[in-house]
Amino acid sequence: RILNKFCNEYVLIGEDRTSLPVQYLRYAKQIKNFEVLNDDIWITSFPKTGTTWAQEMIWMIINNLDFDGGKESLTKRFPFLEISGLFEHKKAFAALKLPIDKYSSVDLAANQNSRPRFIKTHLPFSLLPDQIKNGTKTPKMIYVVRNPKDTCISLCHHGNLLQGWKIDVNNFAKLFMAEKSIYGSFWKHVLGFWKHRDSSNTLFIKYEDMKADLPSIIGKVANFLEIQLTEEQIEILTKHLSFESMKKNNAVNWEDYVGLLRKNNFVYEENGSFIRTGKVKQYKEELSPEIIEQFDAWIKKNIAGTTLEDEYIF
Ligand code: A3P
Repeated sequence: RILNKFCNEYVLIGEDRTSLPVQYLRYAKQIKNFEVLNDDIWITSFPKTGTTWAQEMIWMIINNLDFDGGKESLTKRFPFLEISGLFEHKKAFAALKLPIDKYSSVDLAANQNSRPRFIKTHLPFSLLPDQIKNGTKTPKMIYVVRNPKDTCISLCHHGNLLQGWKIDVNNFAKLFMAEKSIYGSFWKHVLGFWKHRDSSNTLFIKYEDMKADLPSIIGKVANFLEIQLTEEQIEILTKHLSFESMKKNNAVNWEDYVGLLRKNNFVYEENGSFIRTGKVKQYKEELSPEIIEQFDAWIKKNIAGTTLEDEYIF
């Protein structure tokens, strides 16, 4: 079991038995009863699938490419619903010498000043607010999916960089496949949302498609959000969202946060960064042939008989 620096216990929650830090339980009821608005924009994804990339795209599309407004940190512009439940809040803030914030991330997501509200979550469908699950509210939901092998190594680096996991990628891959790392089962997560892919308020996007043809994904997302972008705007946004541009953009690259952790000796990958390699099939450089073989068998087993098999080549 992977533990983070500010948490020494995980629990299995909900019908998918999603593995989350025990702190999550403090916010579980508030999230279940969260008041959803029909004009909310939600981004949902398994961690490390390109969420930040898609968030910046969505925010810019809705805000008419407001690059000035976009200098504000993305974490403030696009709140992360359950982040307060991912670590021992007070302990983490104290260790990082930050004033204790009296608002939880759930409150911050709820109480946004402008409309639409932007909400990021990595929760599986089974742990979303009741109003979304029972269909009484239909916010726009964009789900980002990525090849699990790249997702897995990216998550391993993330944990080593920001959570002090200190684990090598091949050992981490075994935990990932055994559904024992944070957010539990990759497949329950993807398939839980995949079931809703035909709902008019849901859009699936793939990391690999964003890499292959970003302008067309920008167009697809804008269309879904009912925003008309000109060819020129799509071109400008494509440049803004390039790997190089995002890597040096302090509003989205988490460097301030990583810097703070580094200063307090909570960073274990000396040259690590949140926006890391941004490649498709990077796993080939990092996983052993035996683990890749196990991974491929695991993928095959988990998508057999699902329509995911026909529509997504992992
Ligand atoms: P890698 O660790 O494989 O590089 P998330 O935002 O869900 O945590 O996902 C982070 C992953 O998205 C990281 O993957 C990061 O490098 C990648 N990413 C972020 N911005 C990107 C961009 N503009 N182009 C390509 N990949 C990007």
